[in-house]
Amino acid sequence: MIKPEQFKFFSQLVKDSSGIALSTGKEYLLESRLNELCKVLGLKNIDSLYQQAKFKMTPKLKEQIIEAMTTNETYFFRDQHPFDTLKNHIIKELMEKNQSKKELRFWSAAASTGQEAYSIAMIIQEHFPQLANWKVEILGTDISRQAIEKAQAGRYTQVEVNRGLPVTMLIKYFKQQGAFWIAQDKLKKLVHFKTFNLLNPFIGLGQFDCIFCRYVLIYFDQETKKKITDKLVKVLRPGGYLFFGATETPVGLDPSMKRVTFGKTVCWKKAGG
Ligand SMILES: C[S@@+](CC[C@H](N)C(=O)[O-])C[C@H]1O[C@@H](n2cnc3c(N)ncnc32)[C@H](O)[C@@H]1O
Repeated sequence: MIKPEQFKFFSQLVKDSSGIALSTGKEYLLESRLNELCKVLGLKNIDSLYQQAKFKMTPKLKEQIIEAMTTNETYFFRDQHPFDTLKNHIIKELMEKNQSKKELRFWSAAASTGQEAYSIAMIIQEHFPQLANWKVEILGTDISRQAIEKAQAGRYTQVEVNRGLPVTMLIKYFKQQGAFWIAQDKLKKLVHFKTFNLLNPFIGLGQFDCIFCRYVLIYFDQETKKKITDKLVKVLRPGGYLFFGATETPVGLDPSMKRVTFGKTVCWKKAGG
């Protein structure tokens, strides 16, 4: 069992560096993830990891501890209906709004291994040929370097593509390479990925027409959620849309944001535009 001072040390480190809040009761989660990391690092146990982290911490070790604590669960077209809403309502509306500048920018703000960003890219390629001469960009960011490297490779196992991706789309937008499926260039040219920590200032990202920040706020405490949602609103263009995960209700969202529903989809629209 992880010792109380070790739990305190690691949970504080994880909270300060990523915002991920490990409250009392999450000892088991921390312990099992750190035990896995010990195996990777060839360390005997959490006591050794604690000694190293407390007295000989390196940026690399810190990153590995944060990586170990992220939950990268994702799949193609997760929840389906937000992507139907994009297809049936939002992209059309954004196209009307941006008709003169012919530009659309999406952000998958906790992109994990990229399935969310590639799902948006497939919606665009499949249903909006009119956008071929527009500047369309889907930025995918995540704190996890490993997740982002996988997203950049666009390389998925059979099990991963079986999760949410219809076979017709798989064949049309991915090519098989041995046991893997690789996103084709027609998707890759729309997406790009980089590591980014949502705790950092949102500088150099530009403005977006639509932001997906799904299934990440659940890991943060109220104060962190509020800080992040305030920053998200600032980089959203007037008339732009913000999506959270189905179980995530934003608290104290800026008054410029109006709750909008499309069937089962609940999202938030910024005033103006
Ligand atoms: C459960 S996944 C959600 C993936 C995707 N948005 C979806 O809905 O399928 C949560 C992701 O949030 C990332 N994450 C956690 N804390 C973060 C932070 N401070 N900044 C950026 N990403 C973070 C994790 O690395 C993980 O990949």
